[in-house]
Amino acid sequence: GLNGEDNQSTLAKRNQSLTYDLFAPEIIANPYPLYKRIREEDPVHYEASLGYWILTRYQDVEAALRDERLSSDRRTLFIQQLGNLDVSLIQNFLQLTGNSMIEKDPPDHSRMRKLANQGFTTRALESWRSIIQKTTDTLLDQVQHQGYMDIVSDLSVPLPSLIIAKIFGVPESDRANLIKWATDTSSFWGAPSKNIEELARKADTSAAQFTAFINQLVAERRQKPGTDMISLLTMAYTEQNLDFAELPSLCILILNAGRSTTTDLIPNGVSALLNHPQQLQKLKDNPALISSAIEEIIRYDSSVSFVFRIAKENIEIGGQKIPAGSVIALGLAAANHDPAKFPLPDNFDIERSPNEHLGFGPGIHFCLGAVLARMELNICFSTLLKRFPNLQFDSTRPPVPRRSTLVFKGFDALPVRF
Ligand code: HEM
Repeated sequence: GLNGEDNQSTLAKRNQSLTYDLFAPEIIANPYPLYKRIREEDPVHYEASLGYWILTRYQDVEAALRDERLSSDRRTLFIQQLGNLDVSLIQNFLQLTGNSMIEKDPPDHSRMRKLANQGFTTRALESWRSIIQKTTDTLLDQVQHQGYMDIVSDLSVPLPSLIIAKIFGVPESDRANLIKWATDTSSFWGAPSKNIEELARKADTSAAQFTAFINQLVAERRQKPGTDMISLLTMAYTEQNLDFAELPSLCILILNAGRSTTTDLIPNGVSALLNHPQQLQKLKDNPALISSAIEEIIRYDSSVSFVFRIAKENIEIGGQKIPAGSVIALGLAAANHDPAKFPLPDNFDIERSPNEHLGFGPGIHFCLGAVLARMELNICFSTLLKRFPNLQFDSTRPPVPRRSTLVFKGFDALPVRF
């Protein structure tokens, strides 16, 4: 009623001047107390220092993910990043990544997503299980004898790229290139502005090389289809009589969306488990809890903290008027710690149920790789705990500070002993 509206607009006025430093070192280390403060003080917050709106309540983030008035087309943000530099500098990059379905709204998105699903059939997924198990075992074999390892450089960095390269059916000799192209194209996003030109040039060159590489693979697989994902996608496009020009964009999306997300989530999970010895013990005593433990790891310390949308029209969220064209950061990690949804949200509870976290971003862009990611994490954590039951932090080496950008949260290194 009227009274409620009055309260809302008073709150809005009072909070207009509020500003938060999301990049302070102690916030990077642990952003959850700040998310709590923002959620309590100004849940739909305009952060003038960033020029973004920030949503921190579960209810608002969930609704925004399903809101058709919000667009996923963030190409203007790529271009803004360039500052004074000419757009032609990232022509190949824009062609490749700007045309991927993660940037699209319906109806384009719906059409592309249906085709992309053909690469993730149940049958394909089952065939990946042994690839994942073998790759995990090989990486652990390499450190077994030494009694210590870095979870990040020895396991979580190589694992997702090796797996996706095998799933794509990319020859061994091309794997290093694949990783270089993926790194170059993904590091342009959210790049620090001082070396933006160099990053843009690298991203563009790698985008051109990746496009040529995938086009070549597609041509080969059209002649001789296999059971790999590139063959499955090529067949799906052939059946629909579609132009293959979209395939490099889909492939770079699958590669990039599945890499750093998984790379970051593994150490986040290892750290959560080692910091909660009772929960870890419970999992060791009852390995069947692994699936539920993984959902809790994703809720408790997501690797993707925010996803971005652009308002297509003037909208109102939580009593705040958000003008058309505004950039809105949907706080997945903040929502996953909202006490209105999760009792004792800062507790790590591997048996939490229900656990409707937003880590994979529900709605039409719901993570295409969620089933694969869950399988990877499942095998990775089960194998790690089975082979190295004494897993513990390596106290002989100094703790490494957390790494995080506004969007991605992980570790640069996580030394452990076993
Ligand atoms: C989309 C998270 C692993 C492929 C998303 C989104 C999130 C997410 C939050 C939604 C983005 C948005 O709404 O703008 C994660 C996390 C992962 C993970 C936390 C690991 C723990 C993977 C893997 C793959 C993958 C392994 C593929 C191999 C994709 C794709 C999309 C997507 C293709 C875009 C879907 C679309 O636009 O319709 N992911 N992801 N992800 N993810 Fe994942």
